[in-house]
Amino acid sequence: MPDNISQNFVSGAPDYAQHMRGATALVTGGAGFIGSNIVDALLAAGARVRVLDDLSTGDARNLIVKSTTQHAQDAPNPNTQSGAIKNGDAIASTLEKITAQPNGAQLIVGNVSDAHAVRRAVAGCSHVFHLAAMVGISQSVHEPDKHFNSNILGTEIVLRESAAAKVSSVVFTSSSAVYGLTPTIPSSESDPLVAASPYAAGKAQGETLTENYARAHNTHAASLRLFNVFGPRQSATGAYAAAIAAFLRAAQLREPATLFGTGDQTRDFVPVANVVQAFLRAADPRHNLRGERFNIGLGRATSLRQLLDMIADISEIRIPPRLLPPRDADSPHSCADISSAICKLNFDPQVSMLEGLRQTWQSLV
Ligand SMILES: NC(=O)c1ccc[n+]([C@@H]2O[C@H](COP(=O)([O-])OP(=O)(O)OC[C@H]3O[C@@H](n4cnc5c(N)ncnc54)[C@H](O)[C@@H]3O)[C@@H](O)[C@H]2O)c1
Repeated sequence: MPDNISQNFVSGAPDYAQHMRGATALVTGGAGFIGSNIVDALLAAGARVRVLDDLSTGDARNLIVKSTTQHAQDAPNPNTQSGAIKNGDAIASTLEKITAQPNGAQLIVGNVSDAHAVRRAVAGCSHVFHLAAMVGISQSVHEPDKHFNSNILGTEIVLRESAAAKVSSVVFTSSSAVYGLTPTIPSSESDPLVAASPYAAGKAQGETLTENYARAHNTHAASLRLFNVFGPRQSATGAYAAAIAAFLRAAQLREPATLFGTGDQTRDFVPVANVVQAFLRAADPRHNLRGERFNIGLGRATSLRQLLDMIADISEIRIPPRLLPPRDADSPHSCADISSAICKLNFDPQVSMLEGLRQTWQSLV
C-alpha cells in the first residue's frame, strides 16, 4: 500500500475516509442497516452521497438521523410525504431538503434489477458501494426467482452500469455464508466455497462478477465477506432477526431470549463501525485492487451464551434463555481470519465487541 494513504489529515474525518472528500458515491441498499451507517461516514468525510434502495427491508428514516443520537423510529418517514423519488425520476429529493447532513444524501427509490434506475443513480459517481440485496437465507430458498433478480442480476446491472459510467471504485458486499455450514475455523479467503443456499451462491457469484468487472475494465474493485455485523439501526424483528438485535430487544422488553439449539454456537460478531471502516479502506483506488476478497470480522468467536452474559454486563438486565430446537441451515461455528484485510487494507477494527454492544444498547434506550 502506498505510504500516503494513512498520512492525510485534512479534515476531522478519520484518515481512511479522507480519500472520499469531494467524491460522489452511490450506496445501493443505503437505507438499510449497514448501508446507512456507510452513508453517515461518507457524508462526514465530505462526499456527496446518492442512495438507491427499494425500501424492501430498509427505511428512508435511516437517512435523516444520526444513528448514535436519535432513533429512526422517532422520525417521520419521508416516503409517506409528498415528493418521494420513484425509480430515478429526478435525483434532487425530498430527503435532500430534510437531511441533517450538510451535503445531504439523495435517495432514489428503485430496484438494482432496473437498469434505468441504476443508470440514473450511478451517473457522475466515482465510487459505488453495492450493498442492496435480499438478505434472508431462508427467503432465498423459498423465493429463488426474486433472489436471482435482486442479488445476481442486480449485481450484474450495478457493475455493467458502473463500467459505462466510468466509476473508479466498486466495493461489493459478500458474506461469510460463502464458506458453507461447516467451515474451517477460522475461515480464510483461500478456503473452498460451499453454496449451501441461493443466498450463498449469489454472494459467490457476485464476487466473481466483481472480479471480472475489475479485470475486464482494469479498474479498482473488491469484495468484502462480512461476518455477523451488529450495531445501531439493525432490525430486531422478523423470524431471522440477527441475534444481537433480537437479544437487546428482549432485554429492553425484559423477555427471555430465544436460542435455537444449545446456545453453544459461536459467531464472529463485528460492530458496524469497524465494517464501515473496512468499506472506506477497500474503496480507496490507491490500493489498486482487482476484485480481491477480504474477510471482515473481529477475528474472535463468541458463543450465544457468552453474548447473553455480555448483554447482562452492559445493560444490567439478565435475560433468561428460551431454548428451541436447532434450525436447519444454522452453522455451529463461524469465525474470520482477518489477517489479509489487516495486511492489505490496513484494516484496524478499533471498536471492541463490548463497546459495540454498549453503543447499540445506548441507541435503543
Ligand atoms: N448484517 C450482516 O450481518 C451481514 C452479513 C453478511 C453480509 N451482509 C450483506 O450486507 C448487505 C446489507 O445488509 P444489511 O444487514 O444492512 O441488511 P438490510 O436489509 O438492512 O439492507 C439491505 C438494503 O437493501 C435494500 N434492497 C434489498 N433488495 C434491493 C433491491 N433489489 N434493489 C434496491 N434495494 C434493495 C433494502 O431495502 C435494504 O435497505 C447485504 O448485501 C447483505 O447480504 C450483511
